[in-house]
Amino acid sequence: MSLNIIPVPNHLRGKPGSFLLRSGIRICAPEVVRSIATTLQTLVVNTVKIDLEIGDGSGEIHLLMADPEIIPAEGYSLDIDVAGIVIKASTEGGFFYAIQTLRQLLPETGQGEVELPCVEIEDSPRFRWRGLHLDVCRHFFDVEFVKRYIDWMAMHKYNVFHWHLTEDQGWRVEVPDFPGLAEVSAWRSETGGDRYGGYYTQDEIRDVVRYASEKYVRVVPEIELPGHAQAALAAYPEYSCTGGPFDVVSEWGVFDEVFCAGNDATFQFLERVFEQILDLFPDEYVHIGGDECPKKRWKECAKCQKRMRDERLENEEELQSYFVRHFASWLSDRGKRPIGWDEILEGGLPEAATVMSWRGEEGGLLAAQAGHDVVMAPETHVYFDRRHYDREDERGRLSVNELSHVYSYEPIPKGLQANLSHHVLGVEGTMWTEGTATAEEVAYMLYPRACALAEVAWSSKSLRDWEDFRLRLRAHGSRLRREGIGYYPDRQIWD
Ligand code: ACM
Ligand code: ZN
Repeated sequence: MSLNIIPVPNHLRGKPGSFLLRSGIRICAPEVVRSIATTLQTLVVNTVKIDLEIGDGSGEIHLLMADPEIIPAEGYSLDIDVAGIVIKASTEGGFFYAIQTLRQLLPETGQGEVELPCVEIEDSPRFRWRGLHLDVCRHFFDVEFVKRYIDWMAMHKYNVFHWHLTEDQGWRVEVPDFPGLAEVSAWRSETGGDRYGGYYTQDEIRDVVRYASEKYVRVVPEIELPGHAQAALAAYPEYSCTGGPFDVVSEWGVFDEVFCAGNDATFQFLERVFEQILDLFPDEYVHIGGDECPKKRWKECAKCQKRMRDERLENEEELQSYFVRHFASWLSDRGKRPIGWDEILEGGLPEAATVMSWRGEEGGLLAAQAGHDVVMAPETHVYFDRRHYDREDERGRLSVNELSHVYSYEPIPKGLQANLSHHVLGVEGTMWTEGTATAEEVAYMLYPRACALAEVAWSSKSLRDWEDFRLRLRAHGSRLRREGIGYYPDRQIWD
């Protein structure tokens, strides 16, 4: 029996018969999960125009709190019987995921009555970090779209939204002490002279974080250092090696203008930036970038060279490590967990840091072997700015990540000892936006590949079955359309 659920639940057993869902049916929920009962009620009325009631005592749909020893934090059980539905979970998040599964059992539209197949499902995620990233710097996406992005994540049981907020081409978060970041760093001149950009006010950030938490999605902000910093330096050139002046960059690539590692004022600037935004992001993780930092300016800068001598640093890689370590420990002291791209391994990995492995799997393997937590995001598998197929007319970078290739990805790197595999927190797909300027283009690049990655992140490895996934995804297309996700019409699936 296949109910076309994506990601596939870990245990599913079909039973004969069906349950008739109609208006007037009651959801019974203890006080602690009333808000979840309302979520279910809203979902059902919006999808199939059926009005459920909420109460306690007797009824046909029961939400029951379970012992966390029996149902793990994000897990749930869903039992649909001819007489009614019983959902059990030990956390609100678990109930939320049960509802996401139930939603996939509903037809796309309807009126009056719906038959739900009788089934027993027991489900919980394989990984606790099920992430999608969004670069809002190369192109800017407004709050409304960011919320849709989070909706799409939640329906696929993703739980980490990695918000890439700073770049050479734009700084996207308001910092009250440094108004130049919003007035200058958020805007660039396009060829032809048009001004392009935007930023989120602190209230908008709070709004997105609150919205995400209602969907059980954590928000991990990324503030890039010491590289990818030219937009910030356009407003505050005194924190560069040369003193500028600089423009916010209006082309793609990796740029030489980075934060000066020899100037104490640079460190104070970035600390004040963090001080002013950390409260916006309650999640324990803060991403500090660390990738692609050219060392050209540091080699020529008297201050940087002096720092190297004073701190007995052998080379500029160690200077980068010094820089990253400073912020990793500064954040750790404030109760945060720093995470960075795998370049933070170079010159020595900061003690408390989690590594996001993007240049293949090597960084993740090495970091896990050194006892660090890692999130796997290898460009060879989960970079969704790469094209869908190796064909000339495809949108995206020249390199390719086909759907089946994404689906085949195994986040535990080969060669990692079994007793260290717990260091692999999970997996994350990236959505870099040099080539995608609109919401439609993002959806087109991301889906259905993000459906495949959702299954990699959530479902047991033993259930991974490409042919079965292909068939389930065929049916899932109408759900994506209902959500307004203009996905890539992959010919392997929808021909
Ligand atoms: C990256 O793709 N530069 C992390
Ligand atoms: Zn310098």
